[in-house]
Amino acid sequence: MDHTFPIAPIHVDQPPRHEYLGLSRREFLRLAGAVSALGIAALACDVSSIASVIYNRPVRKDITSSAAATDIATYAHAIDLMKALPMSDGRNWTRQSQIHLNLCRHASWLVLPWHRAYLFYFEEICRQLTGVTTFALPYWNWTANPQIPAVFWSTLNYTPRTATSSSTASASSVGSSVISSMLAQPNFLLFAGPATVLNDTSQFGPGYGLLEGTPHNYIHGFVGGTMGSFSSPLDPIFWTHHCRIDELWMEWNVLQNHPNTNNTDWTNTQFTDFVDGNGNPVTINVFATILMPLLSYKYDTM
Ligand code: C2O
Repeated sequence: MDHTFPIAPIHVDQPPRHEYLGLSRREFLRLAGAVSALGIAALACDVSSIASVIYNRPVRKDITSSAAATDIATYAHAIDLMKALPMSDGRNWTRQSQIHLNLCRHASWLVLPWHRAYLFYFEEICRQLTGVTTFALPYWNWTANPQIPAVFWSTLNYTPRTATSSSTASASSVGSSVISSMLAQPNFLLFAGPATVLNDTSQFGPGYGLLEGTPHNYIHGFVGGTMGSFSSPLDPIFWTHHCRIDELWMEWNVLQNHPNTNNTDWTNTQFTDFVDGNGNPVTINVFATILMPLLSYKYDTM
C-alpha cells in the first residue's frame, strides 16, 4: 500500500466488520496494513483495535437534513478558499474541475472508483484548507428530493443550470423503484460497468453500468448547464451528486451484500490524476478506493 489514509482517530463504540464491504479476511488484513502505514504503531497491535480507531470517522450526510448545516457552511467556505488559490496550485477550484475535464473515467468499471478517489481527495482539500477535520461532503438524495434542494439556490448557488427550483427529476430515472431494482442486480459488471484493461486511461470505456447509465447520467442532464458537460465539477452540485452515487455503491456492497469484482485488472489499476490536501500529486489504486469508506468516511444511511 503506497498511500496513507487520513482518518479521524476518535473514541470508539464498536468496530466495523470486514464482511461489511464483502472484504475477505485477507483483504481486511491488507486494510490493517494500510492503517499501520499511518504511523499509529501503538494502535496497530491487532486488527480489532485498528478497526476501533477508524470507527468514528466523518459522516457524509443528506444535504437536506439539519445535521448537514455545519458541513454545508464548511463546503461553501472551502469553495471560496479554493477559488482564491492561484492556478498554479492543483487545489484551485478550476484546476480541480480540469482533472475531470481531462482525465475522468466513464462508461466502464472504472467510473465508480475514479470518482470515489476524486471525492476523497477533494474532501481532504476542503478539510485542509478550512481546518475542519470532521468535515464530510454532504450528498443530494435525488430519490427522496427530486427537486434541486434550496441550498443550491442560495449558499451553493451556481449558473448556468437548465433546471429551475421547481423542476422535478423523473421517477423513471431516480425514483425508489428504479433504484431498488438497480441495487438488486448482483452482477458487478452490470451494476458498475464493463471491464477495461489494467491501467486503462481512456475517458470513455465500452458501456454503462446501471448506476452510471441511469440515475447518474440522467441527473447530469436534468441539472443541465455546466452539469451537462465535462466541466461539471464547476457546479457545487456535482460533488454532492457524486456523493449520492458513491453512497449507492456502498449500499450495493453493504446493505445488499453484493461483492465487487476481484479481477486484478480492476483492483490493481492505478490513478495518478489527483492531488492531496497539501496539493501534492498522489498515486492510488482501485483496491485502496474500496477501503476509503472504511477508513475515511461513512454515510448517515449505514
Ligand atoms: Cu465524471 Cu458524474 O461525472
